[in-house]
Amino acid sequence: MEGTPAAFLVIGSGVAGLFAALELAAAGQRVLVLTRRAIDEGNSAYAQGGIATVWDPADTAAGHARDTLVAGAGLCDPAAVDLLVREGPDGVRAMIGLGARFDRDDDGNLLLTREGGHGCRRILHANGDATGRELERALVARVRQEPRIEVREGVTAFDLLRHEGRVTGARALDGDGRPLAFPADRILLASGGLAALFRDTTNPAVTVGDGIVMAWAAGAAVADLEFIQFHPTGLVIPGQPRHLLTEALRGEGAHLLSRSGDRFMPRHHPLAELAPRDIVARAELAEMQRTGDPFVLLDARHLGASFLAGRFPGLEAMLGRFGLSLARDPIPVAPAAHYTIGGVLTDLAGRTTVPGLYAAGEVACTGVHGANRLASNSLLECLVFGRRAAHAMLEDSIRSQKGTASASATGSPLPETGAGLTAPPAGDPDRHEVGSGPRAPGWRILRDPDRHDVGRAPLPPRMAVRNARFAHRQGADRQEVADPPLPPGMKPLNLSITDGQGTDGPGFTWMPARFPPGDPGEFLDRLLGVFRTGPGLDEAMGKLEPSLTTVTVPLGEATPDRVARRQRTVAAALLARFAHARRESRGAHFREDFPAPDPAWQFRQVLTGTTLSRWPGSVE
Ligand code: FAD
Ligand code: SIN
Repeated sequence: MEGTPAAFLVIGSGVAGLFAALELAAAGQRVLVLTRRAIDEGNSAYAQGGIATVWDPADTAAGHARDTLVAGAGLCDPAAVDLLVREGPDGVRAMIGLGARFDRDDDGNLLLTREGGHGCRRILHANGDATGRELERALVARVRQEPRIEVREGVTAFDLLRHEGRVTGARALDGDGRPLAFPADRILLASGGLAALFRDTTNPAVTVGDGIVMAWAAGAAVADLEFIQFHPTGLVIPGQPRHLLTEALRGEGAHLLSRSGDRFMPRHHPLAELAPRDIVARAELAEMQRTGDPFVLLDARHLGASFLAGRFPGLEAMLGRFGLSLARDPIPVAPAAHYTIGGVLTDLAGRTTVPGLYAAGEVACTGVHGANRLASNSLLECLVFGRRAAHAMLEDSIRSQKGTASASATGSPLPETGAGLTAPPAGDPDRHEVGSGPRAPGWRILRDPDRHDVGRAPLPPRMAVRNARFAHRQGADRQEVADPPLPPGMKPLNLSITDGQGTDGPGFTWMPARFPPGDPGEFLDRLLGVFRTGPGLDEAMGKLEPSLTTVTVPLGEATPDRVARRQRTVAAALLARFAHARRESRGAHFREDFPAPDPAWQFRQVLTGTTLSRWPGSVE
């Protein structure tokens, strides 16, 4: 489809991108999907533990929401969380309809496991420990049968085309480094996060933050990038990648031990091994520092060989390649960069602040995860918000064909988000509480009574009208946060952004890559890892901030190497900028010089071009 305008362009072929593409195709639209390597290479296919959703009749949406909000450490958007937990089961049902086979007991009931931070068993899994692989298998099979979807593998997008303030396409390089242009009316970024920038990472090499950089360079707001989740149990084998050992192992009863056999987690948290990931990761590093060992041990031997072989077959096979077995050996593990909590800021329908540009999945920042993601909530987010983004693209497209401005087309300075960020006025007839279970003090689940039934595709014609009413009402309620006072210690970046119009011409927006000498992954592990320090963040900022400038160069100079270095450096610089500014510890962001949460910092940070501003957080 190169050169031929595709109405809908999707960048990335993980669960978010493929699920959204199928929704668009089901509504009769042609979709072009670009993906960097093979269609199934991305974080999605590596997901192990499963997908969290309210499935057990004894479980409640309120319970799932409460656990998500607690993990999020005061920065979740309760309205986004509400959508996640209430629309999640529909998303999972849709995946089952697409052919995904989750594990069941002998009576055909879906099996549920537990992971850290969840108050009960609510995680569905597939093939024991290969949930993501099964979701991708089902999605890819369906996409291959869908004539309206074209997938271009081996194509790396690196820049968004813009005209008169809206995106009009993407530039990319093919596998031979040849530049390509893909005009499109609407673009969904589904390109994953940036945790592969770190040396010690659970991520495959494709997730280096391209979508975040492209969106930011196009003028979109990005948010919460200081929050990188480090998974406590990456396999430590010298010279090998940090293969993940799923948290479900601890959910099933595995323990963390020091080399002397000391089970240290009960000393750190009442939930012991099932404490939030940031706490477990820090406890492990403290233990490693105390003992001088480069790892701690994950011990599942007491769970029994036959249970382990049946429940975790993929892990046993992977460990077998290194001469290890869960049934026989305590396994050496250490924290590894795992998940990008922040990303491209979206409203509740996946719209970014740039007209025509949408984001879903790990690249997006919907507000669902706050300062720390609850385990196994991200595949669910891909389904719920991937589908919402697809519907918003359709709805906005219908509106623009009719000549009416959509929420996106108005280019609001910050998107509508979080109808529930602050308590609504008393007696507001358009908002009411839902959910029957107990709630964390101080927050409320808010419901949009006109919310369309996302269980149905294609898009019902009446949806556009209903959503227009909702958008109008939200617009009236929206809190304007333009030009808020910057908190102490925060200053606007000294950074110039090339006018977006420039990308229509012979050149494109280009940022020179000046990653400091040495291994970039090691640099990030050292300065922006689990433990951050003031001097370390100063060093990261000092070395990376100069990369946050833009110049325009001819397209012919966009070699794969230059593009890759540019994207990595700018992604790292954005991360450093956010982490440097937050002078407290909260959720996944821990600073030794400010080791506690500070109520004065209970807000989200949003960067648009040169301006770092704040966004109110939820109150717990
Ligand atoms: P991805 O699946 O990462 O896909 C990104 C896509 O974008 C890829 O196709 C990639 O090639 C493409 N891409 C990237 N850059 C470009 C570019 N410039 N041009 C074109 N294409 C590009 N979450 C859970 O909920 N449960 C779990 O059990 C779980 N386990 C996990 C285990 C591991 C080892 C990892 C790494 C993550 C795990 N997660 C889990 C997190 C979850 O897998 C991801 O958050 C989720 O799959 C992200 O999906 P996505 O579609 O947003 O992105
Ligand atoms: C895991 O299986 O431990 C990963 C789950 C997740 O990251 O959500």
